[in-house]
Amino acid sequence: MLDFLRQEGIDESLITRIEQYRKDYPVAEGDRIRIPSPKFKYFGSYIWKLAITAILSGENILLVGPKATGKNVFAENLSAVFGRPEWDVSFYLNTDASSLIGTDTFKNGEVSFRKGPIYACAEAGGFGVLDEINMAKNESLAVLHATLDFRRIIDVPGYSRIRLDPATRFIATMNYGYAGTRELNEALASRFMVINMPIISGEDLEKLLREQYPTLKAEYAAQLTALFGEIRKKCESSEISTKALDLRGLLAAVTLVYNGLTMRDALNIAVINKSFDEFERTLVEDIVAARIDGKLSREEIFVSEKA
Ligand SMILES: Nc1ncnc2c1ncn2[C@@H]1O[C@H](COP(=O)(O)OP(=O)(O)O)[C@@H](O)[C@H]1O
Ligand SMILES: [Mg+2]
Repeated sequence: MLDFLRQEGIDESLITRIEQYRKDYPVAEGDRIRIPSPKFKYFGSYIWKLAITAILSGENILLVGPKATGKNVFAENLSAVFGRPEWDVSFYLNTDASSLIGTDTFKNGEVSFRKGPIYACAEAGGFGVLDEINMAKNESLAVLHATLDFRRIIDVPGYSRIRLDPATRFIATMNYGYAGTRELNEALASRFMVINMPIISGEDLEKLLREQYPTLKAEYAAQLTALFGEIRKKCESSEISTKALDLRGLLAAVTLVYNGLTMRDALNIAVINKSFDEFERTLVEDIVAARIDGKLSREEIFVSEKA
């Protein structure tokens, strides 16, 4: 991963400090299994620089952006780069203090405290990924205020308070820019460094396609990148909604073609059909048809692996 950061153009001085961080905060044997080895790499050197510097400065970060901007991939990449065990917590409307911090349980007639993910992460010097943090009710997250600010403690009612291990950081994510998004209140937002996650650039998308599909021919990587750029333009000019601007879908389409579908069928189920509005779907179909030959199949877009 550190070599990847060098390729991305991250300053050697930051890389040295990451190495120092890993030395200063060794991970307990039993937690090593939680250190991720990411399947996907995050491309975007500016975002890397912001996040690494914030983490080295002791800050927690909040990744904000539209869907499929790599928020979760990036959070996992950060845990891997810093060599931290990771705890993932998905937030939803009914997320409450006990599901985060822990709760009393009865075992053999005795009460004992069962640690929640935030507690376990805090003790272990882990990175806690607070996924879609805005989906929870702000009031139920008040228990995290002292955890996320300079106090760095968890107060467990009825038990003692614990101090966060110095290596512990929290990385929250938040989808922003579609209907149904809840706001995060000021009290919570002020406890994070907020990083706006951009939609991947054309240059980085070509890198990503080459990395994830090494046998995809360069010409088709370029065509798919151009298609994504075109859909993005139509979204920006509000001709279509952002439903079809779905990088996750575009990548899935490439896999579908690899597994035997034609380009048309693959793009239909992975991208086009995400527009449920008839009129919009037709528009997206036209954008796709103008850029990409629907009859293309695996034999044409991938180099043969037989050789
Ligand atoms: N800048 C990027 N670098 C690498 N992969 C990206 C990037 N942006 C999006 N992706 C890809 O998009 C897909 C969705 O990523 P994910 O982290 O689940 O998005 P989010 O959490 O923002 O909705 C993944 O396949 C990921 O590799
Ligand atoms: Mg996500």
